Amino acid sequence: MTARLISIADHPEEALAAAVDELARRKPIAIPTETVYGLAADATEPEAITRIYETKGRPRFNPLICHMADLAMAKEHAVFDPLSEKLAQAFWPGPLTLILPLKPESPIHDLATAGLDTVGIRVPLGFAGEIIRAFGRPLAAPSANTSGAISPTTARHVADDLGGKIGLVLDGGPARVGVESTIVKVEDGTLRLLRPGGIAAEEIEHVAGLPLARPEKAGAIIEAPGMLASHYAPNASVRLNASAPEPGEAYLAFGPVPAEIADGAFVFNLSPTGNLAEAAANLFAAMKRADASGAAAMAVAPIPAEGLGEAINDRLERAAAPRG
Ligand code: TXA
Ligand code: MG
Repeated sequence: MTARLISIADHPEEALAAAVDELARRKPIAIPTETVYGLAADATEPEAITRIYETKGRPRFNPLICHMADLAMAKEHAVFDPLSEKLAQAFWPGPLTLILPLKPESPIHDLATAGLDTVGIRVPLGFAGEIIRAFGRPLAAPSANTSGAISPTTARHVADDLGGKIGLVLDGGPARVGVESTIVKVEDGTLRLLRPGGIAAEEIEHVAGLPLARPEKAGAIIEAPGMLASHYAPNASVRLNASAPEPGEAYLAFGPVPAEIADGAFVFNLSPTGNLAEAAANLFAAMKRADASGAAAMAVAPIPAEGLGEAINDRLERAAAPRG
């Protein structure tokens, strides 16, 4: 199989029709979202969800995020407490995933929730929302990459990786945010951050008027079960907080770079002006390019820990983790 690649900008109607057709046949398709490209399938059909896992080569079932067209659709499937609703109103459509109690009458299949009594929901920005509206059912969608690899931020990344395994890749251009959604759970009136992501924790705290409790670090029980170390693994080894590359290393820079470094073998600047949103948008593509440069190791400049830097550092730490 070679995936059909359809440009949404050039052929929106054809893209929508082809997407709905594949989904109705319980086939996963690659779709753009503002965070990363997703491998999407009908969240109510076990056969469709199983194909997501087969396509990714994911060894076991983790709960998947269920993507909805809007808050009204989300409310058909999950119970909203007032704080979760406030966050949904503020950030949807956008890169926020809420973990919510699943309604018993929801047709979302156990394979999408991994049998939990909660469901991860988000409303994506852009054409993905139109697909969900046209299809009429929630779409389960992890990132559209082989398990353990770096998430795709362009249709080309997806086609190079999964193009032989799926029937359709919709091209919506480079993902604007570039890192996966922020995952939050409201529990007993407290707000917990399960995964840092495309909305800065500070922004969520500002809207909520509450601090976000951070996940326990290394060795803690994995609460968002997809949050394994050694994820986002490039081929090259990764060295963090490097002020300059060693000979033979590719270098991912951040902010102004001295000329003697800028002239090095492979240097990619995530954001020459030191802008974290720009760095997030460039991160995964830069890691792939550093890999493609053939360097056996990549060094990464220090990235500030605030704002979107929290998600960037989280993904970099996973990329640098020992390979399991
Ligand atoms: O930006 C994104 O979130 C992308 C795009 C495609 O939307 N999707 C994505 O999905 O990253 P996925 O399936 O790779 O990430 C799902 C994460 C995992 O860490 C999983 O453990 C967590 O969400 N999750 C899903 N449902 C959950 C639940 N009921 N309770 C706790 N964690 C949950
Ligand atoms: Mg992923």
